[in-house]
Amino acid sequence: MQVRDLLSARVSLAPMAGITDYVLRSLIRENAPSALLTTEMISSEFLTQTKGGDILERAENHSPISYQLSGHKPQMIANCAKYLEKYADMIDINMGCPVNKVVKGTDGCALMRNAELAQEIVRTVKANISKPLSVKFRLGYTFDELNFVEFGEKMQEAGADFITIHGRTRSQMYGGKADWKKIAELKHSVDIPVFANGDIVSIETAVECLEQSEADGVAVGRGALGDVTLIGRIEKYLNKGEYIPPPTLEEKVETLKDHLKREVELRGEKVGVKFCRKFYPYYLNGFQGASRMRGEIVTIDSLDEVLKILDGIFVK
Ligand SMILES: Cc1cc2nc3c(=O)[nH]c(=O)nc-3n(C[C@H](O)[C@H](O)[C@H](O)COP(=O)(O)O)c2cc1C
Repeated sequence: MQVRDLLSARVSLAPMAGITDYVLRSLIRENAPSALLTTEMISSEFLTQTKGGDILERAENHSPISYQLSGHKPQMIANCAKYLEKYADMIDINMGCPVNKVVKGTDGCALMRNAELAQEIVRTVKANISKPLSVKFRLGYTFDELNFVEFGEKMQEAGADFITIHGRTRSQMYGGKADWKKIAELKHSVDIPVFANGDIVSIETAVECLEQSEADGVAVGRGALGDVTLIGRIEKYLNKGEYIPPPTLEEKVETLKDHLKREVELRGEKVGVKFCRKFYPYYLNGFQGASRMRGEIVTIDSLDEVLKILDGIFVK
């Protein structure tokens, strides 16, 4: 498939390590028939040593789906990308991760300080695969190094087919606000499609981001947590003009129950329930006693017990 076909929904799921797993992708797909899904970041070193395992699992209907690789060794990343072609519709290279242990190894956002190496990675991967290749990066490493326009041009020149840009610098991590207006500077400088990312939490913010960034679409990360319908609602609004309101608390709790059951099916009860703890703050908020309830269920490993407490929310 051509890159424009993979992006036709104008919205994607942003990759999130430890979050955008098989189950979350499935839940999102059930609401968003055409949005581009992404895996979690897959380390090229890890993939080379292990051949991947569970993290590579996907369902037929996860297409269109992009698999994200991290690393800094061009040929190793290229070999991994080639290996992933049997799963992926597109390969994405992580050039935006701000986490210390990643940037220390010259992976992630550290590549924004080494455009030559980043270009070599893109060139080498491109020469080894036949599917579209994308890169995801930030505005720059610090506010004194806002090189995103020049960096994007170099990625395009090296052969990237698509860019997702998070409107923050590495030094901001996840603080402050994403600068959607700046993204327009990149959009005007490259011919390949650009998706804008950062702080999109509703249909309204998606529309505002598109207006300010002039991007071809939006990538949604944290906004999809606790609301697996958001990406589908944005997809429907942008493509059909149909406005679907956010889920009610009852709907969110039903989705959390479903999410829990599916993670337990995938990982077993103890690991599955523990895995879901990170989602509780996103699903369970905005009602009286929410914080106390989260404090209570976060200590529980039994699926039945958690489900019983969740059912209790609506018993008067
Ligand atoms: C828990 C978590 C894990 C993340 N993991 C990745 C990752 O593996 N690869 C990546 O490119 N970005 C990763 N990100 C960044 C997101 O893709 C996204 O760029 C960022 O969260 C801003 O978008 P948002 O405001 O819509 O969440 C992660 C973000 C979070 C919160």
